[in-house]
Amino acid sequence: MISQRAQNLQPSATLKVTGRAKELKREGKSIVSLSAGEPDFKTPKYICDAAIEAINGGQHGYTMNPGTPELREAICAKLKRDNGLDYDPSQIICSNGAKQSVGFALLALVNPGDEVIIPAPYWVSYPEMTRLAEGTSVTIRTSFENDFKLTPAELEEAITDKTRVLILCSPSNPTGSCYSAKDLEGLAEVLRKYPDVMVISDEIYEYIVFDGDHVSILNVAPDLKDRVVVVNGFSKGFAMTGWRLGYLAAEESIVKAVSKIQSQETSAPSTISQAAGTAAYNHDLSEVHAMREEFKKRRDFMVDSLNSIEGVSCFTPGGAFYVFPDISSYLGSKKADGSVIETSTDLCLYLLDEFGLAVVPGDAFGEPNGLRMSYAASIADLEEAMNRFKKGLASIS
Ligand SMILES: Cc1ncc(COP(=O)(O)O)c(C=O)c1O
Repeated sequence: MISQRAQNLQPSATLKVTGRAKELKREGKSIVSLSAGEPDFKTPKYICDAAIEAINGGQHGYTMNPGTPELREAICAKLKRDNGLDYDPSQIICSNGAKQSVGFALLALVNPGDEVIIPAPYWVSYPEMTRLAEGTSVTIRTSFENDFKLTPAELEEAITDKTRVLILCSPSNPTGSCYSAKDLEGLAEVLRKYPDVMVISDEIYEYIVFDGDHVSILNVAPDLKDRVVVVNGFSKGFAMTGWRLGYLAAEESIVKAVSKIQSQETSAPSTISQAAGTAAYNHDLSEVHAMREEFKKRRDFMVDSLNSIEGVSCFTPGGAFYVFPDISSYLGSKKADGSVIETSTDLCLYLLDEFGLAVVPGDAFGEPNGLRMSYAASIADLEEAMNRFKKGLASIS
């Protein structure tokens, strides 16, 4: 008998498209996929070398539950160097990825029935992790006009006496939108009025910011430090998705609570990956910046291509590797056989079945008028994808 908890959990809505894409590929169809949530680069060599050295040097045992002192010290040095934030290693806990850090932070902060504010479009895991923590998701639909950034007025309207956590994600998955210092100052102003509301600040795409510097809410509101859990990791900036390494930085009592949960669920992340992560942060960021510049070229190509299509509009995202165009003018269109495309999921399945293009419907992220395209792919693939997208849209009326 399967538990109610597991039954209530929604499988990832993105799987519908990616599963179908894999099936079609197996059947020998030509598929271009812009559905990936991971960089198409390899991990830099100096990081791989550190891992090999750890293996050959006999680092084969468990580490301390919150992570090795070396890695936590490297994380503190990085938080100072890149973010101007002061943390002590006792305020850091390493995990098997930012996903685990967000999930365990919610388990540590949320009581049954507490509300968690999640701006939409959101990363698909936030509402389901909230459900696992027995909290209630309060999603706020942000607007295309404001580049999908939560406004102070929208935040204040959503806060109730049950609100426990606000989740912020900048740069955002799925939109690539980035909060500016001014945006964050506005949100901080509201948060100061509600001292019981905590913030989980997911900064996993920090190194993929194209215009100016990444800004954390703690840069503009250091007075909120005890109420902010900063989540980050190595997957995106260093192309290390498969290494499974992330962390959170927070006030010590939160770190202790997360550590208790982690000690019973997973223990520390892989010793080898921790050695790799230490090398990543103790090195200069030239290779990270080279990957960012490559992503920037692709972003510019995608935004220009999308905005040249009749009825599609796309703002220029400041970071990550996603674009999230508004395709609402195509909803309600008819295919050649007369059937109607009602939703972004219908549109994405049509593009996949008839044109071999895999992109993720906005429905999966709580925004029915958009879809997500990942540009973690070569320019040649992006050109081919855009050709298919244009042909697909031109075929419906
Ligand atoms: C917004 C966001 N947070 C967290 C994660 C998870 O990262 P990790 O690989 O470190 O678990 C992802 C991965 O897709 C993401 O998009």
